Amino acid sequence: MPLPTDEKLLALSQNLINQFDAIFGLHPGFRPAHAKGAMLRGTFTPSCEAASLTRAPHIRRAFTPVVVRFSNSTGLPLVPDNDPNANPRGLAIRFQLAQHSHTDILSHSTDGFPTRTGDEFLEFLRALASSDLSNIPASPFGAFLGSHPAALAFVQTPKPAPSSFARETYFGVTAMKFTNKDGVSRFGRYRIVPEAGNDHLDDAAAKAKDANYLFGELTERIATGPIRFRILVQVANDGDVVDDSTIHWPKDRALVELGTIELTAAVAHDALAQKQIIFDPIPRVDGIEPSDDPLLELRAAVYLISGRRRRAATAAATAA
Ligand code: HEM
Repeated sequence: MPLPTDEKLLALSQNLINQFDAIFGLHPGFRPAHAKGAMLRGTFTPSCEAASLTRAPHIRRAFTPVVVRFSNSTGLPLVPDNDPNANPRGLAIRFQLAQHSHTDILSHSTDGFPTRTGDEFLEFLRALASSDLSNIPASPFGAFLGSHPAALAFVQTPKPAPSSFARETYFGVTAMKFTNKDGVSRFGRYRIVPEAGNDHLDDAAAKAKDANYLFGELTERIATGPIRFRILVQVANDGDVVDDSTIHWPKDRALVELGTIELTAAVAHDALAQKQIIFDPIPRVDGIEPSDDPLLELRAAVYLISGRRRRAATAAATAA
């Protein structure tokens, strides 16, 4: 996939990556955000009602192979799983349509995002980096939150640690435009719900866990049987705002089930596979298009620039 040519977008993408580097330090070969992860593989099976929403290729087939990557937040490759900053957790899903053809879903475990645009998110990160977090009200971060209610709401949303990556719900946040075979389009947001049910720890229980409790549990769990998630889409009503990740839609909006992923095994050569794979927040497939949410095009560039840097660092380390 080529990089976009818009100079402003590219400069903002690079500035965002630089800001993550400034906050977390440089860790060549790792992601500047969601650095600690693990990959599993399995299959996606569409539901009966999925075709009412989209004509996408993975909905028209009996099943499609998938790989997924679970991750902690932060750009620290060794962030303890029980560090509060490791929330929200990430879940990235790749549907492997053919040898060089795929479409992805990116999701995290908080329903929402602190800012509408990438420029504002850069301001948010810069304010965070220059603040004394023991005295937020008197800091630039405090001032940012005071003038950006959506960022304040996001920061204040409880983000409890899950007991397992397989017992967390993940949200796609940015809306997509789904089109079915009759040409009917509706906007929706992914919601990925664990078959095992949600289960979160209170602060004391999380503190008592070890630094690798989630990745350790994932390895144990997958050895004993499949991990399943239902992929739902929360469908917008006409008139709902569909290009702003900070705005929540009313709770009564319909949830359409797209299908189920069943994960059965770890990906071979996991560490290397994580370095190679670059997830794409833009679906690039017939039947699912991006909305006009400004985060989407930007993030596609950010992840591609960052992923190419990661691959180059990995190749250089292998050659050395
Ligand atoms: C302007 C907004 C955002 C910026 C600048 C940003 C930045 C980043 C960066 C730099 C990475 C590492 C990419 C790589 O090296 O491959 C990343 C990964 C990730 N981000 Fe974001 N992000 C943004 C919004 C979001 C949102 C809204 C979500 C939730 C859906 C999200 C979920 C994730 C996930 C799950 C990963 C890990 C992907 C993987 O496993 O490869 N991000 N983000």
